[in-house]
Formats: sequence, C-alpha cells, structure tokens
Amino acid sequence: MSIIRLYPSGNEIPCPDGMTVLAALEAEGWALPNNCRAGTCGECKVKVRSGSFDQGFVLDMALSQEERQQGYGAMCMAKPLSDYLAIEWGTEDAKPTLFPPREQVPHIVVERLERTPSIVELRLRPLGDPLRFWPGQHVQLGSPPEYPLRNYSMANAPRPDGELILEITREPFGQTSTWLTNNVAIGDTLMVNGPYGSFIGDPATATPVLLIAGGSGLAPILSLTEAALRRGFAHHVTLLFSARTPSDVYPPGQLAYLTHRYPNFELQVTYTRHPHDPSCGEIPHYHGRLPGMLSDIFPHLADTAVFIAGSDAFVQDCTRAVQALEPGAVYTEPFTDQQGDFSSLSILG
Ligand code: FES
Repeated sequence: MSIIRLYPSGNEIPCPDGMTVLAALEAEGWALPNNCRAGTCGECKVKVRSGSFDQGFVLDMALSQEERQQGYGAMCMAKPLSDYLAIEWGTEDAKPTLFPPREQVPHIVVERLERTPSIVELRLRPLGDPLRFWPGQHVQLGSPPEYPLRNYSMANAPRPDGELILEITREPFGQTSTWLTNNVAIGDTLMVNGPYGSFIGDPATATPVLLIAGGSGLAPILSLTEAALRRGFAHHVTLLFSARTPSDVYPPGQLAYLTHRYPNFELQVTYTRHPHDPSCGEIPHYHGRLPGMLSDIFPHLADTAVFIAGSDAFVQDCTRAVQALEPGAVYTEPFTDQQGDFSSLSILG
C-alpha cells in the first residue's frame, strides 16, 4: 500500500499495491482529468514532486521524453513504488467530488432504438443498486478479449431507477461498437463499469451556459442539459448542435420536450452536409462548419460558461473559436479514436 499526497491541498489517498494512481484517486472520489485511460492521450499528466513510480507503457506523444525527465507522469498508467508519491494536482481547498466507480455491474437492455442511420440508442437498467454518476460522465462497455472495453457517455441525467441511456455510434472497424449496434438485443445482460470522467457541470455556475456538441458528443451534453434544467437552473441555456443533415439530429422527442418545457432552453443546429433549405424544420439552423461561424452566431461570450463535446478535431477547433470570444469558462470532452472505436472520454479543461 502506498499513499498519494496531493499538492498543494495535502490530501492523502491510499493506493493499494498494483493499482494505478488514477484508479486510486477515482476510488476515493477525486476527479483527475483523463481521457484514454491507456497511456495514449496525455490528459492525466501531472508533475510528480517526490516518490518513485512505475510509469508503465505510455506513448511519447502522450508524455514526451523531455516531460518524463522534468518529472511528469501519466497517472492512468503510473503505479507507485515508494511509500509516498506526491503529485501536483488540484487547489488548496480541493475536495473529492466523484462517486467511486464500480466494475461488472449487470444491466439489462430494456430498449434499443435506431436513432439515426449511424447511432443506436441502448437503454440499460441495473439488476442491483443503480450506478451513481454525475451528468457528463461515462461508463465502459465491452466483453474482453473479443470486444475491448470502450467508453460511452450517459445521455440522460441520473434517475431513481438507475436507467442509463447510451448512444452508440456505428464504427465500421470498431469491434465493440459493431457488437453493441448489431448483436446486442433487448433482454440481453451487459456488464457495466463506471462511472468515469470529469466532464461534469459545475452546480455553482451562475451564468448563461452554451453547450456545443458535434455528432455523438451530444450524449454528455444532453445529460448536462437535462440535469441543469431539471434542478431549476434559471439562466439561459443554449444547445448548439453540429450535425451533417437533419436526419442526424436526435433524439427529436427529448429535444422538443426540453424546448417546450423550459423557456430558458434554446436549441440551435448547424448542418455541415445539407444544402440551404429554409423549409428544413422549425429548429433555428445554420449551414456550414461550426467553428467558422461561431462568432457570427454568438458575438459575445463573456460571462458565459461553455461546454464542448465531440471528436478531438471538433473540440479543438471549437475551443479555439470560443477562446477568441473570451468566455467565462470552458469545459471540453474530446472523443478519442481508440483502436477502431470512437469512445467518449473525459477531461475538464
Ligand atoms: S494518457 Fe492517461 S488518460 Fe490518456
């Protein structure tokens, strides 16, 4: 057993032998940003102040040789070797905020819907105690070794019955997504790990919110939106969704409900592959790539909290465009392509 000491807060977290620093922190509710959980993205990188650790296999693009020499480590793969490992992360008054993840929690597939030509929605109900999660987090599904574990964000806010709504994107070369979208049927049992991730809304946010989603990045954005509106969030909430065509806008019923139920909620859509057609629906919409037109749609973002989720490139481009408008705060959720599967992964940026 080692002890992980956080600097500057001084909090100490036990790390059983063989456990990674990230897993030990999550088990105690600490939301260390992470993404691939496999040493390929660098999101969990922190400076190690003292102590020794086994870094495990981490790609140089995630943690360069220079960074290693400077004392940085990727905590998703790092295992302490010394009694104490001091890392620089968090603020002086940092507190644990997450629910400890659980593994192999059986869920029954109670609904399966073809949401769009490329997205299948699975609704899962737990057989035992519900997984407790924060809106914006994700779970892992898979059946290793045949179907590697992949990350999928919840598209709903937590419910008393523990139902999880997951939007699975069909990926031509993704074993897990192909299994989930083609083979898994209503009534099947799936084992779920989670929750993971730190792309969570700040309940203390008291400013207007702009939520930007591209493709299947809509799932965590929907979860955050539903949770905020249900708890009576009073400021303006705008959901800006980048879709290829009108048939990629999902789930229509839920979006219509939110629009009619909450006067402070507004949905806008940008279409990237749809010719301009003034008759293509009631939803306010634009045509073109979102990053390039963001400043036309929202000339001012000061005092606005912005959440962005989607593919890595989409999030990077939108973040650059948003930062130029000097927003209040920006939270991002890039989805990383992992060995053929797009997976929903988390970072609070
Ligand atoms: S390298 Fe650690 S989460 Fe990606």
